[in-house]
Order: sequence, then C-alpha cells, then structure tokens
Amino acid sequence: MKAIVQDTYGPADVLELRDVDHPPIGDEDVLVEVRAAAVDPGVWVLMTGRPYLMRLAGFGMRRPKVGVRGRDLAGVVTAVGARVTRFGPGQEVYGTCESGSYAEYACARQSRLAPKPAGLTFEQAAAVPVSGMTALQAVRNVAHVRPGQRVLVIGASGGVGSFAVQLAKAAGASVTGVCSAANAGLVRSLGADDVIDYAREEIDRDGARYDVVIDTAGNRPLSLLRRVLTPRGTLAIVGGGHVAYRFTGGMGRTFRAPLLSMVTGSMFRGQRLRPVMSRDRAEHLEELTRLIESGAVTPAIDRAYPLNQAPDAIRRLMDGHPAGKVVVTV
Ligand SMILES: NC(=O)c1ccc[n+]([C@@H]2O[C@H](COP(=O)([O-])OP(=O)(O)OC[C@H]3O[C@@H](n4cnc5c(N)ncnc54)[C@H](OP(=O)(O)O)[C@@H]3O)[C@@H](O)[C@H]2O)c1
Repeated sequence: MKAIVQDTYGPADVLELRDVDHPPIGDEDVLVEVRAAAVDPGVWVLMTGRPYLMRLAGFGMRRPKVGVRGRDLAGVVTAVGARVTRFGPGQEVYGTCESGSYAEYACARQSRLAPKPAGLTFEQAAAVPVSGMTALQAVRNVAHVRPGQRVLVIGASGGVGSFAVQLAKAAGASVTGVCSAANAGLVRSLGADDVIDYAREEIDRDGARYDVVIDTAGNRPLSLLRRVLTPRGTLAIVGGGHVAYRFTGGMGRTFRAPLLSMVTGSMFRGQRLRPVMSRDRAEHLEELTRLIESGAVTPAIDRAYPLNQAPDAIRRLMDGHPAGKVVVTV
C-alpha cells in the first residue's frame, strides 16, 4: 500500500510517499481502508521527535518506532480481528489509530473507533477524533460547562478550539473566542458571541471575568489567566505552550498548574487550574456523533490535501494559521 513514511526524525522534508506492507491486525483490531486523515500538533511531535520527552516516553529514541504518520482517520472497514464484535467489513467508521493513517490502510483498536456520523463526508469525519475528543473532555469532564456561564476559549480557530467553542455553546454558555483577526469570521460562525484578536488586545482587555477559560494556545502566564477567572472559575489547560520547546514542549506549565491550584487554593478562593489529558475512547466519539447528528457541532475544515502532499498539510498547520482543521484525503 502507499503511505507517508519517515526513517528519521526531522522537518516535513523527511516524509516520503512509499510502498509499504499493510499493517498486521490483532484480535481486537480493525483494518480500515482510509479515505481521509487529519493533522494535529501531535503529528508534528512524532515527525520531529520534539520535545525530547516524547522519545523517553517510548516513541523511539533515535527514530520513530512507527514510521507512518497520522492518527485521525475516517474510512471503510475491510477486515476485523477474531474478537471484534462492534464492526464488520463495509462499515464506515472514524476514530484514531497507532499504525499511521497517512496510508491506504490503517489498523485501529475497536475501542478507538465509532460508526461515522451520518451526513458527514470522510474529510469532515477525519477532522473530528483527536481535536473533538480533546475539546469534549475539556468542556464537559474538566470544566463542567453549564448553561449561563461565561467561557473564554483561547485558540478558538484551531483544531481543539473550533470544537470547544461549539461544545460550550451547545452546553448553553456565552462564549468569547481568542484568535487572529483573519480567523475571527470563522469563530463567530461557530457560535462565539464575542472575539478577541490576540494581536490587538489581551484577554483582560475590559476587566471581564469568565467562569471557565479553556486555553489551547498555552502562551499566557498563569497569573494573567487567573486574573480573568471568576473567584470559583476553572482553567482547563489543553495546550502547554509551543510544542517546539525542545525538552518538554511547554508541558511544564501543565504539571505546575494543579500543584499551584492545590497550594494557592485558599488564596485564590477556589479557582481550579486543571490540565486536560485527552483519552481516545469510543464513548467520546459516540457522544460527538450525537452532537454532530443533532446539528450542534460541525467540523470546520481549513483545507484538504491529497496524500502525496501530506508534508504540506503539516506545514500548513504549524505555520499557516489555518481556519479549523487541516485534512489529508487518501
Ligand atoms: N491536552 C491534550 O490532551 C491535548 C490534546 C490535543 C492537543 N493538545 C495541544 O493543544 C494545543 C492546541 O492544539 P490544536 O490542534 O488546537 O492546535 P492548532 O489547530 O494549531 O490551534 C492553535 C490555536 O492557537 C491560536 N493562537 C496562536 N497564537 C495565539 C496567541 N498568541 N494567543 C491566542 N491564540 C493563539 C491559533 O489562532 P490563529 O490560527 O487564528 O492565529 C489557533 O486558534 C497544542 O499545543 C496541542 O499539542 C493537547
């Protein structure tokens, strides 16, 4: 099969379109003929091998253990392992995989797939899993957004943020999005009541306070984020800063925040500072499917690139300020 493969860590130039073997499938696995995949900052991390912490986490010290890139997928089931009960050949699915989805076929665990939402194209469905599941866990499980609350989404035009805006609106909140001026129209179209252009104004521009801040951009000090939170508000930290930070990818803040929250809890009168650690689970996909099919959530697609241009898709995400998700069509 054709796949986008790398033999060494590095910039997008290390990726090559090549013929490789189909991924083998185990008893709990599903072989999917991939129709579309998507790009997220995690793809860049596995491509570059940075931050170095990820190499220690088992992804490969000198080169990536899995050479094919891509994690999100949408496609058609072609074969299933002996213990797969939820899917059969011919079924349209979406979810995440570990074998690499910038390929004609990918192997995914049945616990990380769900039937593709009715009415979505493969490109739209592929845009959902990584970012949609992260936004769902931030808005629902960590921040517990409730009707009438004021929510600030920092990075509202990005992969996670574009879902977080829609999910917070669906929960009945009033939403302010932070993004570049170029993407303000998209963020309003997703339902945001107000937009802050980060190049012109800071998030504390008018003294407004928010019950919930969902931070995907990760480049503001905790002191500023706490200042815009209500006394009992919740900060959900999704992005720890630029993933390109060499050693920790900005994760330091993510680990510091809960400690600070504990130590200063009384001083800040109950503000909760919480990291979001997204888990890939079929139940999250199924919840997203319900929201998509009800019309509450629609994936925002910036652009789709053919498989052989996957390196350009990754460059677009990291350098191009896309409006929503960047997708790869297989
Ligand atoms: N915790 C988890 O489990 C988890 C899961 C998934 C992703 N993540 C992390 O979450 C982060 C965001 O991921 P993503 O897929 O949403 O990335 P993305 O698609 O690249 O989105 C980045 C967003 O940040 C905005 N932005 C850039 N500079 C900004 C600034 N100075 N102030 C405010 N906003 C700014 C961008 O706006 P413009 O494009 O309009 O400039 C865009 O909306 C990454 O660090 C990723 O690694 C964490």
